[in-house]
Amino acid sequence: MITVVPMELASSALEADVSDGLSRVEEALREAARTEEALLAEASRHLIDAGGKRFRATLVLLAAQFGNPRDERIVPAAAAIELTHLATLFHDDVMDEAAIRRGHESANSRWSNMVAILTGDFLFARASRILADLGEEAIRIQADTFTQLVSGQIAETVGPRPGQDPLEHYLRVVRDKTASLIATAGRFGAMFSDAPADVVARMAPACHALGVAFQLSDDILDVASESAQSGKTPGTDLREGVRTLPVLHALRAAGADGAGPHPPDRLRELLTSADLTDPSLHAEALALLRVHPAMDAARADLRHWAGTARDQIAGLPGVPARHAFETLCDFVVERTG
Ligand code: IPE
Ligand code: IPE
Ligand code: MG
Ligand code: MG
Repeated sequence: MITVVPMELASSALEADVSDGLSRVEEALREAARTEEALLAEASRHLIDAGGKRFRATLVLLAAQFGNPRDERIVPAAAAIELTHLATLFHDDVMDEAAIRRGHESANSRWSNMVAILTGDFLFARASRILADLGEEAIRIQADTFTQLVSGQIAETVGPRPGQDPLEHYLRVVRDKTASLIATAGRFGAMFSDAPADVVARMAPACHALGVAFQLSDDILDVASESAQSGKTPGTDLREGVRTLPVLHALRAAGADGAGPHPPDRLRELLTSADLTDPSLHAEALALLRVHPAMDAARADLRHWAGTARDQIAGLPGVPARHAFETLCDFVVERTG
């Protein structure tokens, strides 16, 4: 089942354009997954058919509204972005030892890490193949974007350098691993629709800010949401020891006032010295974090980034798609899955 990003499409013409574009992207995704290697085809289709919001493809289509949305490069560009994203999900679930993705067994869980890694590689290659027909610049941007994405993933794995502010490190990871591709989605839409140069230049930073907000909400949902909504296992970041925004706020709150010894703080103890792969300790930490004021602090950061995105979007020309973009800022704040 395919889910679509909910947004307000200000006119029926825009609605028709976006929905037609998304169906063509679906066709392109299926086409890209075709191969005589039955297992690669099956594993690729497994996650394509499981759905996903197609957030990045939607951004390409919306950004194309600022130029000629019927340009024949738009749908391939959107498909290539979505395939790149999909490839990273296969790899990310290996890294995060995630068992569920898009409400279904992840590929690493259903088959093996090896199958998941190779399927991710395959999909990435298919994305590059599509972009080759769009020209050298498309490939260069995709290569630079993927370089940034991978450096974000590795920086997350390595953790902050000694002395580095963990929140600063976290933000760098979020910018690189997630906002980079979302920014490129907007850039491709504007670029391949031949939108005016100043629109292309504004689109990438606007989508970058939206991308930061998107990952912040993902990290909040990892704590707050149930599997039925997110299609993933709650508390995956906690279990894997990945310190995301809610945890960083909780640790900061516990140690920031410099007022001498703190009262016993069970959450801090769990976060800093417990083995959170232990199911009962994990459940305890997750329950404590869910009701901790750190969640409100994280939500305030999320609203801040969505506001930054909204301010940037306000600088784009007043076509109907701009309103749709603005409603995406609300979606990112309010989403539950
Ligand atoms: C998940 O992205 C990975 C992140 C960068 C947060 P999405 O939330 O867009 O995943 P799908 O495509 O809808 O499954
Ligand atoms: C996703 O990070 C980033 C990329 C896939 C590049 P997460 O690990 O936070 O994403 P989810 O929550 O598993 O979708
Ligand atoms: Mg993950
Ligand atoms: Mg991850």
